Amino acid sequence: MCGVVAVIGKENASQLVIEGLKKLEYRGYDSAGIASEANGLLQIVKSEGKLFKLVDKISRLSNEKKYFDSSIALGHTRWATHGNVNVDNAHPLTSENRIAVVHNGIIENYEILKEDLISEGFVFKSQTDTEVLPHLFMKYIKLGNDFLKAGRLVLQDIKGAFAFVAMSLDFPNQLFVSRNSSPLAIGLGEKSNFVGSDAKSIDHLTQRIIYLEDGDHALVNLDGIEIFDKNKNKINRKIINIKAEIGLITKGGYRHFMEKEIFEQPSVIPQTISNLIKNNSEININLRRLGIETKSALLITAAGTSYYAAMVGKYWIEHIADLPVIVDLASEYRYRKPSIFGQTSMIVISQSGESLDTLMALRYAKKLGLSTNSIVNVEGSTIDREAEYSLYTRVGAEIGVASTKSFTSQLIILFVISIALGEKFNKLQSKKIHRFCNYVNKLPNAIAQMLKIEDKIKLVAQNIKNSKSIIFLGRGLLYPIALEGALKLKEISYIHAEGFAAGEMKHGPIALIEDNVPVIMFLVSDGNEDKAISNLQEAYSRGAKVILIGDRKCIEKASFAHLKIEIPNFETDFKSLLSPLLMAIPAQLLAYHVANERGTDVDQPRNLAKSVTVE
Ligand code: F6R
Repeated sequence: MCGVVAVIGKENASQLVIEGLKKLEYRGYDSAGIASEANGLLQIVKSEGKLFKLVDKISRLSNEKKYFDSSIALGHTRWATHGNVNVDNAHPLTSENRIAVVHNGIIENYEILKEDLISEGFVFKSQTDTEVLPHLFMKYIKLGNDFLKAGRLVLQDIKGAFAFVAMSLDFPNQLFVSRNSSPLAIGLGEKSNFVGSDAKSIDHLTQRIIYLEDGDHALVNLDGIEIFDKNKNKINRKIINIKAEIGLITKGGYRHFMEKEIFEQPSVIPQTISNLIKNNSEININLRRLGIETKSALLITAAGTSYYAAMVGKYWIEHIADLPVIVDLASEYRYRKPSIFGQTSMIVISQSGESLDTLMALRYAKKLGLSTNSIVNVEGSTIDREAEYSLYTRVGAEIGVASTKSFTSQLIILFVISIALGEKFNKLQSKKIHRFCNYVNKLPNAIAQMLKIEDKIKLVAQNIKNSKSIIFLGRGLLYPIALEGALKLKEISYIHAEGFAAGEMKHGPIALIEDNVPVIMFLVSDGNEDKAISNLQEAYSRGAKVILIGDRKCIEKASFAHLKIEIPNFETDFKSLLSPLLMAIPAQLLAYHVANERGTDVDQPRNLAKSVTVE
């Protein structure tokens, strides 16, 4: 999703902005641009595609002496919402070559504002919603307002979710910034200040960060910042000291971040676990803070892969703690009138902690009176800050767009929550609590063993890489993994893939089966495997290419399958209860290798963003 970086007060501001934009690349983008000031003129350079193209353009212009060093610069990576991917629509957008704005979010009432501005004589050069911002600034500055007053008038006019930074030749040593729902951080330096979509994008410049709150606006000067809340009251926001992560974010010898993130699961997951389980069986989750004091229904909302984690959490919490769980897609929850009957608490799950849909669901639930909690990876993210209680996955930065280690660590937290709830509501005796905690502690090793089937998964990938459409089937705890397997595959290989509950096939989707359509099932023997194998048989009888990834018993029972991948041997109860964590691994590996076979951009697949900060 769009990334914003700005620097004021450093001689090589453009260079520093580019470095910041590089750190935002993982979020996904389709074009990039930069604005700076030199000799009293605005310099704008923009390009379609990846950042290196922008860098090439700037260095060519610098060699030709058409681009100059500057002590103020704004930069942007764009993920198109309004208007095609092209240079005109790339940010910064300008007005009369005197104002430049970079923006993340959507100005919802831009059409009416644009009509008015056109009738007032402003000329639009892009198809974006953002372009109304520089023109509105220009309009109010021309009326005699200073930068702060002009910015406030702009804020009165616009509706939507946004985080933007504006610079003006009329106020050469100032930046005007504001946020509403989209994230924005300000970094404090020595006679220099910085702005970024997240703290990571400016951690090469400072470790002193202020997160703006919703509705805040600020004037960032060379030697200080003034922040105002939505009622225009001057306000001090907390300064947070962050740790620079720059040294850690490398591919570590792997071809892609996604590959690294898949393979580092056994070594990072202990960080998730050590915080949750102490001394082998003491669970470190505060159920009072989680808002579950008495038996009540729990609501979990999330998006994408995090939503599939929520689905698994429902199965576990209902099964282990006998507590009803409602799972809801965050993007749906906020736009209906949900009943909170029987509920006291909600948990949102988000790797980034910035997904706008999920954030809005959390705010909505807060308004409805639920206790709001989060499971997040990025500490200090908006969702973490707004949740009353957060549990951290702590698996380090996830750079590959496709979520991998975050998913497995979210699952671990949900499993431990189910043990904590089972203990609280007397559904688990201490012997079982001990056993389940032991299962959790065994996971890093079990995942390491699952990773060893990579070569067999590669063969499956080669076999299905040219398929037009692929079906994933699962039952029970492995139904969400079928959905996750299909999502992962489609997002990075661009092959159409769907996951279905195996028992649902006969109610419609079976019509999709024709000769050679791959039907993939993850399965472990848990006493119910025969039902799933019958569903697989139904697909086989209709010509599907049946691929089974399962334990020995299932493989023996489904000897008819065309491709059979046997997983390592685990204790029956462990493998059936924790099957989602085990089977997430072949699902991730399969998507990764199919994408590699097809030569797609694994870490930054087309059209996708890592941090989805628009609705
Ligand atoms: C899929 C994927 C997405 C995210 C979703 C939610 O691989 O990464 O589906 O899971 O956009 O993101 P977070 O968890 O950051 O809220």
